[in-house]
Amino acid sequence: MPECHSTNSFLLDLTRKISQPEGTIVITTQQSRGRGQHGNSWESEKGKNLTLSLLLKPNFLAVKEQFYLTMAVSLGVCDFLAERLAGSVKIKWPNDIIVSERKAAGILIENTLTGEKLEQSVVGIGMNVNQTVFATSNATSMAIELGYAFDLVTEFGFLIEKLEMRYLQLRSGKTSVIKMDYLKNLYRIGEERSFLSNGRIFLGRIAGIEESGKLRILSDGSLLFFGLKEIAFIK
Ligand code: BTN
Repeated sequence: MPECHSTNSFLLDLTRKISQPEGTIVITTQQSRGRGQHGNSWESEKGKNLTLSLLLKPNFLAVKEQFYLTMAVSLGVCDFLAERLAGSVKIKWPNDIIVSERKAAGILIENTLTGEKLEQSVVGIGMNVNQTVFATSNATSMAIELGYAFDLVTEFGFLIEKLEMRYLQLRSGKTSVIKMDYLKNLYRIGEERSFLSNGRIFLGRIAGIEESGKLRILSDGSLLFFGLKEIAFIK
């Protein structure tokens, strides 16, 4: 679409009105009211980046397995960037894509559940491609990292290929590969770092991920588990 308020909202509304096939993509380079995680907004300069939403129907996953989809999508984006930048790309739990300590892409997955199954997922991806000036200091883009601009249509094709590869891997039941690769690329895994939870700063090391998607941290000899919004990383 030449312009869209939010590709996630648009695709969600569309699927409520009329059923759409798996693989449907809504994409724009001019998103005016992009939504991020935790009710935040997602800013993207007109014509510079990829902002898209992909419709998946992962009904082979039980509701309690939904974090596998988060891992597969994060890996798809991470694979794409790692190939493009030929460098280190990390996934900051649960699904921020980090290059040189800055965020290069964000993911917003909105699931619709029926009973015990994942009926539909709207996978929103904001990939910073050619934008070089950001309002926040913790953002980066492919152009900032490499010093030149990219063709958005070409990059869209590569990104979708990588996402498809990881989704097919997940669909064919290779969940242990997905989990292993996710942990391999997890930002700050095993490093002693400061975290903030419940107003308290503590030292710990990321030790893994629970089946539910909770973050497992080893701190002072005890294993602690954190859900979304329950923990923040300190610099
Ligand atoms: C985050 O907070 O990191 C997630 C950002 C997700 C942004 C993308 S851009 C395309 C899609 N449409 C939206 O409104 N949000 C997602």
